Order: sequence, then C-alpha cells, then structure tokens
Amino acid sequence: ARKFFVGGNFKMNPTTVESKRALLKALNEATLDPEVEVVIAPPSLYLIPVISELRKDVGVAAQNCHPKSAGAYTGEISAVQLHDAGIPYVILGHSERRALFHETSELVAEKTKSAVEVGLTVILCVGELLEERESGKTTEVVEAQLGEVVKLLDPSKWKQIVVAYEPVWAIGTGKVATPDQAQETHHAIRAYLAKEVSQEVAENTRIIYGGSVNASNCAQLSVQPDIDGFLVGGASLKPEFVQIVNTKL
Ligand code: 13P
Repeated sequence: ARKFFVGGNFKMNPTTVESKRALLKALNEATLDPEVEVVIAPPSLYLIPVISELRKDVGVAAQNCHPKSAGAYTGEISAVQLHDAGIPYVILGHSERRALFHETSELVAEKTKSAVEVGLTVILCVGELLEERESGKTTEVVEAQLGEVVKLLDPSKWKQIVVAYEPVWAIGTGKVATPDQAQETHHAIRAYLAKEVSQEVAENTRIIYGGSVNASNCAQLSVQPDIDGFLVGGASLKPEFVQIVNTKL
C-alpha cells in the first residue's frame, strides 16, 4: 500500500525568523497521524535551522535546486549541497517555477535526475493551465511534463519520486478541483506510468493533489482511490495543516 503523503509548501513565507519559529512550535506540539509521511518545505534560508528545530518524524524539503552539482551559478543551490546538508526532499517543477521563472519540462527533468542521483526524494509537480483544461488538454499536458522525466530517469529511481498533480487554476485561488476531477487526472497519471515505466512503478508511486486544499475539502479528496496525499500551500502556514495531515484519522 502507498503511504499517505502530506507536504506543506511554505513558498516565500513566513517573513520573519520569529514567525518561522512559531510555525515550527505549533507543528512540534501537534499530534500527527503516524501513518502519514509529513514534509514541510520552508524557504532555503531556513532549511538548516528547520532541520535542527523540527521534530524528527517530519521531513524537510527544499523548493528548488539546480541541475549542476557546483559552479558559477549565482543564487542557486545544488542537489549535492542539499543532500550534504541533510535535506532529504526537494520540490521540483512547481507551476510558479515553470511560469514565473520560465522552467521548461526539460529543465525540470534534468533537475529531477540530479536530485534522485544524489539520493533525494523529489516531489515532482505537474498540472495544466485553465485554458488547457477548458480545451480538453489536461492529460496531454501532464503526460508531456512527466514524459521528459520518464526519458531521463532509470525506472528504479521512481521509488524516489512523489508526483504532485497541481492544476494551475486551483493554486492559491480557493478553486479546488472536485474529487472527481482530481481522481480522473490522478488515474490518467497512473495509467501513463504503467504504460511508459512499469506496472510496479504505477502501483507504488504516490500521486498527491495540490491546489486550494484545506481542512474542509481534504477528506472528500483523500478517499479517492488514486489520491495518495496532498501538497498544501496557503493552509500549510495555518493550524489547519495539522487537520489536513490527520484527515484519515
Ligand atoms: P495553495 O494550497 O495555496 O492553493 O497552493 C498549492 C501549492 O501550490 C502547493 O505547492
């Protein structure tokens, strides 16, 4: 069975060391379902303090990395550095990186390869724009995004991938995908992995949903057969993150 996975993507939040401490304190004091793999992704500035201040049963993720290991890449952090610093996870291909920082699926695939090669687990984000959904292209878009990774990755490395389906129109909009809409795409992603990688990889890969997940909509989504968890943005900065982690309790 696939272990339920809940990630909290803090994005470029919070804005003070003090509020970062308060967020960690709340999480450290919470009762979390031990059957759930919980990971938070703070801004890179806070990664090392978070590793030492955070309870050990919650993982820590970076929000990006560079595909090269080292060199003249001002402002960047490599997967090698993350791994050496004890950061076990990295979010890659987030729609904000794709849209605002012009990351192509080819680049996201190179980053993914570099991260899994050093031993990181990648939360690989895919998802369609509203106009792509409206023109019936959702499956085609997510398959193309995944396809670049399929091309570069050895099938054995898929153990280190968690796929996050995040429809762009649902991110930060309060417009959550319906359980049926999410399930349909998650199922399509699993079918694609079965066809392009292997049946085993398709069965074992967690496919999590992101986009306006909150304490009131998570339960309905979580019972869908192909939804294996969540990637939470805004609500991960609030006490309700704990309720989302505990949605199956
Ligand atoms: P929201 O939960 O704020 O919609 O963000 C989702 C997201 O982008 C998680 O990576």
